[in-house]
Amino acid sequence: MMSLIERLGLGALHRLDPEVAHGLALRALRCNLAPSPGPVTTPRLQTTLADMYLPNPVGLAAGFDKNGTAVAPLSRAGFGFIEIGAATPLPQPGNPRPRLFRLSEDAAAINRFGFNNEGADAICGRLARRGAGIPVGLNLGANKTSTDRADDFARVMIAARNHVDFATVNVSSPNTEKLRDLQGKAALAALLDGVMEVRGATPVFLKIAPDLSEAEIADVAEVANAAGISAIIATNTTLGRDGLRSAHAQQAGGLSGAPLFEKSTRVLARLSTLTDIPLIGVGGVSSAEQAYAKICAGASAVQLYTALVYGGIGLVGEITRGLDALLARDGFDQVADAVGSRKGDWL
Ligand SMILES: Cc1cc2nc3c(=O)[nH]c(=O)nc-3n(C[C@H](O)[C@H](O)[C@H](O)COP(=O)(O)O)c2cc1C
Repeated sequence: MMSLIERLGLGALHRLDPEVAHGLALRALRCNLAPSPGPVTTPRLQTTLADMYLPNPVGLAAGFDKNGTAVAPLSRAGFGFIEIGAATPLPQPGNPRPRLFRLSEDAAAINRFGFNNEGADAICGRLARRGAGIPVGLNLGANKTSTDRADDFARVMIAARNHVDFATVNVSSPNTEKLRDLQGKAALAALLDGVMEVRGATPVFLKIAPDLSEAEIADVAEVANAAGISAIIATNTTLGRDGLRSAHAQQAGGLSGAPLFEKSTRVLARLSTLTDIPLIGVGGVSSAEQAYAKICAGASAVQLYTALVYGGIGLVGEITRGLDALLARDGFDQVADAVGSRKGDWL
């Protein structure tokens, strides 16, 4: 359960503009005003992903801490791993405000930030200075005005490679025009080759959109296999708007949160039939049951973002402890044993 302080804090934040509220939430984290139990772990929750040790399989999704200014407090919030960014080679302001909308009736959000960030050098500098702790990755993006988007990913990879535990090629944000076109077979293969060439020893992950057709998912799996990608993150936000009730439902941008759960889990399960690459399930996770469902659908780990807007950072501990209990209930000694155990439910 949320503490009274947290409930009052969230209530106050939700009366503010969502982007202002998010800035305050990050500031509260930096001032250690948020729950910080440290990484929640049990023998059942411990796992490895792309040779990284994770105390638990519940991670923070990219976009929450775009500039890496709250790595230390987020590392103590209960997560098993966190992803910072997206970082682009050059700093950029992103799209005009407003660009983040709460869809409270739908437990969802729509954002069209467009990779606002302080640039790879500033962000990687912060990551270089961080202390020991849970694995920290960086989400790689491309500048809006870049003439060679594929090269942008390689440039951020070079800036990050000695300072992160993994790096994610994000060709699935809907908010940079034509970025998603880089998910096509030939373009993606060339882009991944460029990143793999400069990665050093850093594992490279690939993050995909939930709006791909079955044929496109198969292409992505084939290219990722050939490129030597260490994990696939499924999924980013959706352009779909089915079944929404909130006033902001028709805002342009990517939809995240509860309405994305089913769609992203189906893409995840489909992928798991096409590749042996470890998968990270993201999209609409707000409870231990949903984290467990993604794992049973084929995810080795999960990430979340939007549910934190509604449930507070204390949700992380609730989900991890609840996940441990669900695994125990079903007789799994280790989370890895549950991965993909019910993927048929989603195909
Ligand atoms: C405000 C906001 C900003 C985001 N920024 C990024 C980003 O920079 N890079 C990225 O790969 N995903 C980004 N995402 C997508 C999330 O990482 C995640 O894939 C998506 O929101 C689905 O998970 P959720 O339903 O738990 O939020 C962003 C999401 C939100 C809500």
